[in-house]
Amino acid sequence: MSANPLRRVAEDLLAEWRGRGSYPPGPGDLSVSRTRQMARDPLPLLLGAYEELGPIFSMRLLHTKVIFMLGPEANHYVTVGHPENFHWRESSLGDLIPLLGDGLLTVDGDYHDRARAIMLPAFHREQVEAATAAMVAEAEAALAALRPDSVVDVYAWMRRLAMRIAMRALLGLDPDDGGNGALAAENFEAALGFFGIDFALRLVRGPGSPWRRLMASRAVIDRIVYTEIERRRAVPDSGRRDILSLLVEARGEGGERFTDTEIRDQLTTLMFAGHDTSTSTVTFALWELAHHPEALARLTEEQDRVLGGAPPTIDQLERELPYLDMVVDEVLRLYPPAWIGPRRAVRDFEWGGSRVPRGAYVNYCSWASHRLPEVFPEPEAFVPERFTRERKAALPRGAYVPFGGGKRICIGKRFGLIEVKLVTTMLLQRLRPDALPGRTMTVRQMPTLSPRGGLKMRLRNRA
Ligand code: HEM
Repeated sequence: MSANPLRRVAEDLLAEWRGRGSYPPGPGDLSVSRTRQMARDPLPLLLGAYEELGPIFSMRLLHTKVIFMLGPEANHYVTVGHPENFHWRESSLGDLIPLLGDGLLTVDGDYHDRARAIMLPAFHREQVEAATAAMVAEAEAALAALRPDSVVDVYAWMRRLAMRIAMRALLGLDPDDGGNGALAAENFEAALGFFGIDFALRLVRGPGSPWRRLMASRAVIDRIVYTEIERRRAVPDSGRRDILSLLVEARGEGGERFTDTEIRDQLTTLMFAGHDTSTSTVTFALWELAHHPEALARLTEEQDRVLGGAPPTIDQLERELPYLDMVVDEVLRLYPPAWIGPRRAVRDFEWGGSRVPRGAYVNYCSWASHRLPEVFPEPEAFVPERFTRERKAALPRGAYVPFGGGKRICIGKRFGLIEVKLVTTMLLQRLRPDALPGRTMTVRQMPTLSPRGGLKMRLRNRA
């Protein structure tokens, strides 16, 4: 797929022309307001179309028709039933490739499956357990820096904490060394900023443009990552547990290893995929708990009883805090950070009574699927009790997909869940989140769900 925006538009129009006559029903006129609404507040648009047109529909966004498939069966079809009908790489999020390169997110087919097999051991339980030491130390330090009863932008606070955890656990860099750790974090934040700006601005090239700034940040990140790879290749140390070291050592079944470029691409992808997602989940959890004192009380009672004030271990987080699991599940239902599953159809297929032509943009969408009243009654309400073990097991397959599914299911699921649960627990052991009077929260959707403009809350001393 071309990185030249004009060529991209031409390719899209050609693909749509080839598939003419085979798109599912839906508004096909050019509409600036629809495109705008998709960028600012997509949920009502998607749920309205679902109500009117059913679980598969198309709509023109910008210059091109985009197909949405919503609901449990659609999610299952795309992720588990027929993933071979789709590619991620040529999807609407293909413009991540200039930053991420060919990491797990942006590759497909055999190459994806082989790379994933090489990477999986780096995400096994014992590796995540090794990372929890960095998580606890970083969370302690971040909490110690908070003044009780002060007003804090909890989103910015958690974002910085998640970045520091990523630097240590993924890259093995010390964010306090004043050198590469801090520089990598700063440039990664700057690079991510590109994907939050308006689509039109993202198309601008030339000196001073956001694109040039993205490329400059990428160059700094690359230099740091390549230096670290070289260092590890020069002096192998099997005691290192950071993901970069594990990827340098990793071998496939036939003994094949990642090249330096492959490691760079995989790591940048992990930093991208794992940073905003955990940040937003903790932030949304604090927001919902501040508005649901009964859930907060039940949660703190559980943690006091099980942990008695000590930081949680991975065992406790995975097995002994069931109400915490329910709260996090419900937060991820209401606000699944990676809310859209972008794909491109690579062959013609039929689903739900509609034809889908090869070359069409197709998205599944956890956010909209999690808000269907026939699957989750009173979908807007925050009700952790929906996720008791029995009720969760009774959900239809594909109904609840905050981590996707099938062979592309989030590889960092365990890492992300442990990070979210650990930070939330340690914060609530000391502080109580309170919403500021009159403060409302709206959700920004690109590149992942987050509270628009950050989220200031008062953190009161729990004692
Ligand atoms: C609460 C935290 C997280 C959530 C909700 C989340 C969600 C998701 C979702 C929905 C997908 C699938 C997208 C699709 O089908 O198109 C995904 C894929 C992925 N995630 Fe996560 N994620 C989280 C944390 C992390 C972390 C911490 C990492 C890495 C350290 C990570 C790395 C990845 C990667 C590499 C993929 C691509 C997997 C593949 O295609 O094989 N994620 N994530």
